Amino acid sequence: MPNAGHRRAAIAGLRAIKIAGTGVSLPPKVVKNADLEDVVDTSDAWITERTGIKERRIADPSIATSDLCAEAVRNACADAGVDPSDIDGLIVSTSTTDTLFPSTACWVQRKLGIKGMPALDVSAGCSGFLYGLELATNLIIAGAMRRVAVVGGEVMSKVVNWRDRGTCVLFGDGAGAAIVVPGDGRSGVLASNWGADGNLAPILYQPAGGTQMPATRESVDGGKHTVHMEGNTVFRHAVVAMSTAAVQAMRDAEITADDVSLFVPHQANMRIMEAARERTGVPREKMYSVLHKYGNMSAATIPVALHEARTEGLIRDGDIVVSTAFGTGFTWAACVLRW
Ligand code: UT7
Repeated sequence: MPNAGHRRAAIAGLRAIKIAGTGVSLPPKVVKNADLEDVVDTSDAWITERTGIKERRIADPSIATSDLCAEAVRNACADAGVDPSDIDGLIVSTSTTDTLFPSTACWVQRKLGIKGMPALDVSAGCSGFLYGLELATNLIIAGAMRRVAVVGGEVMSKVVNWRDRGTCVLFGDGAGAAIVVPGDGRSGVLASNWGADGNLAPILYQPAGGTQMPATRESVDGGKHTVHMEGNTVFRHAVVAMSTAAVQAMRDAEITADDVSLFVPHQANMRIMEAARERTGVPREKMYSVLHKYGNMSAATIPVALHEARTEGLIRDGDIVVSTAFGTGFTWAACVLRW
């Protein structure tokens, strides 16, 4: 939960970057709430009322996270008018890695047919895209890079327990990418705020498959390779962390709720999003949601939402966009961006 120490990771003052392009990759298969009634003991009414989700995309079994990320980067590069080989940094935010090693970012390079530039994964759950954006921004401001692809992508459907109605109905697959370049002084990050509290790690995690619990017959039979989540605890922390980080970033950016053009929170549950928004004072009509269409795509929700908002003409140059996220770790991050 954000506390006094949290301020150490708050940065205010314009950092001149620009998001030169965005792109997404969303699997074509749509799974509606009613379809899940055949899978677990649930109902469209319950899922809609408790989460706001109506449907989600589910990837074909042959698809890995890197496939979605590569396509999203390719699309974002096309939008920015650059070739993927022109990027000089690749940051992939994901919890559903292709392999334990190498990084999913390296698999993305391979699928894009590019090489040379540093490629790394960020493991920050649903906060991953904003973590990646923060890293890209600071690398660009430091002069270390000039064109960074930040992509959040997940194939959550491969790590959820399809027998656990408390989790499997929530998640979806997808990826969203942004090409971050130096700004000319008009656009950039006005303030940001990020942090983590690893003491709460066991509240939301995938227990097996790593060095804590390597894969065994027992770990597989025991369902330890899937998402374990104490939903109510996550819910409470998410509301407080997302709103606190956003309010603090808005204060550091010296803006009020009236200055905000669009509020794009991490999309896990409409009740979390609404509660967080309310605490920032931003009016409901300024909150942008794709949750009903895609469910919780973890690190992909914010870049997909930003892309769709841009496509709908809801984000224009000069607009102030506030994003805030919360995820496994626990991690949180907020960003006030002048587009
Ligand atoms: O991206 C960050 C990671 N995740 C999140 O942010 C998720 C955060 N948590 C949540 O969104 C919510 O806690 C959930 C949507 C997971 C659960 O909603 P809730 O309102 O907290 O429900 P609950 O866990 O308190 O469960 C209420 C009831 C229970 O039944 P009983 O014990 O009252 O009889 C559950 O068994 O709802 C039941 N339930 C369901 N019923 C139908 C739980 N899942 C389902 C389901 N369909 N899918």
